[in-house]
Amino acid sequence: MSHLQVHGGTPLQGEITVRGAKNFVSKAMVAALLGEDTSELRNVPEIRDVNVVAGLLRLHGVQVERDVPGGVVRLDPRNVEIAHKADIDTHAGASRIPILLCGPLLHRLGEAFIPDLGGCRIGDRPIDYHLEILRQFGAQVDKLDTGILITAPRGLHGTKVDLPYPSVGATEQLLLTAVRAAGVTELRNAAIEPEIMDLIAVLQRMGAIISVDTDRVIRVEGVPRLGGFTHAALPDRIEAASWASAALATRGDVYVRGARQPDMMTFLNTFRKVGGEFDIDDDGIRFRHPGTELASIVLETDVHPGFMTDWQQPLVVALTQATGLSIVHETVYENRFGFTEALRQMGATIQVYRECLGGLECRFGQRNFFHSAVVSGPAPLRAADIEVPDLRGGFSHLIAALAAEGTSQVRGIELINRGYENFTGKLEALGATFETV
Ligand code: EPZ
Repeated sequence: MSHLQVHGGTPLQGEITVRGAKNFVSKAMVAALLGEDTSELRNVPEIRDVNVVAGLLRLHGVQVERDVPGGVVRLDPRNVEIAHKADIDTHAGASRIPILLCGPLLHRLGEAFIPDLGGCRIGDRPIDYHLEILRQFGAQVDKLDTGILITAPRGLHGTKVDLPYPSVGATEQLLLTAVRAAGVTELRNAAIEPEIMDLIAVLQRMGAIISVDTDRVIRVEGVPRLGGFTHAALPDRIEAASWASAALATRGDVYVRGARQPDMMTFLNTFRKVGGEFDIDDDGIRFRHPGTELASIVLETDVHPGFMTDWQQPLVVALTQATGLSIVHETVYENRFGFTEALRQMGATIQVYRECLGGLECRFGQRNFFHSAVVSGPAPLRAADIEVPDLRGGFSHLIAALAAEGTSQVRGIELINRGYENFTGKLEALGATFETV
């Protein structure tokens, strides 16, 4: 397992490009399974999640062709068959995507099997909403010791769902099932992230009938047949914000080609409040450190259009360099401050709390989850030997190593490959000094 030896203290300066959003492209590939024609997805990044989903789809008989440098994936779902359960296991451990194959496979084959799911350890990541939604469509859910077998002997019919929490995955589960279910489906308290809206755009191109009301109620009229789609994925706003935070933390100046303002409004407001400067043009956004001290802030993560939970971890590294006390209340996941342990080892002053340190209603108050943090700065960071805990925490560790004085060892960088395309190439383009050992 290779690791990075990072020589910190050099500001990141230069230009990088972000391509399609990790949390959209995998779902659009699954959506192709619903169609009776071929589909083409563009602006697809070369990340592990795409490989995992391509492998899963091939297991089910979908022909997947890739032009990796060109960022094009072509999918032909016309010969879909049931995959062998053991084969699914080998592919699925690294991702939560298999759960989203259920609706399409139930429509195509009448059954689906889900092995135990992978994905980052940032809470217990349950799938209870997903299974309840499938049951409401008329599916039979049987828990086996190797995973979950789902069948729909009498087909799937429209239903009314009221989500306890606006879950992105559960909303996608419903969309991918409702579009071909008989009758009308209604989803209340739906997630409406840009990645969800792009998935709805893809489904509409395939022939679906979907509306999104101002009160976040999604309605779907099932159709008997869907065609293929051609679509260019929206850019990855999480990666764009990660590099913006890296520019702040390293006192740098980074142009992110492909970054799109509408998807990042809340991040940009927060970036400005911390003291960061940015210039927006038609092709991207330039993020830079102001050259003066950074300001501490009060931050709460939330569902869209709030401050995205995936933006929190990289930004916290920049907050360790801000003057004063910053307060962060993580309301989407119960356990998303694990990465702060390594930052404390490097000299950061961060205290995590069980209490909700913010005004937003939160599911984790007084339930023994350390989901609030106070960050005191500026705290000079010292190099350390770091083990990457998860995708976004891992990128945060990388930023911290780049900001720290001295040489850090960053291990487990494969986790970062899951969601950041060619990140070592981008680090080189931005003038970072490091070796892969
Ligand atoms: C998606 O995860 C993203 N992953 C996450 O990005 C992102 O942080 C999250 O949405 C929120 O925006 C992908 O799209 C692959 P949720 P998802 O269902 O769909 C609870 C990254 O680093 N919940 O919106 O799994 C859940 O525990 C990743 O790119 C249930 O209780 O997130 C959490 O507290 C990290 N039961 C909350 O909902 C369920 O059945 C939000 O989860 C489902 C979810």
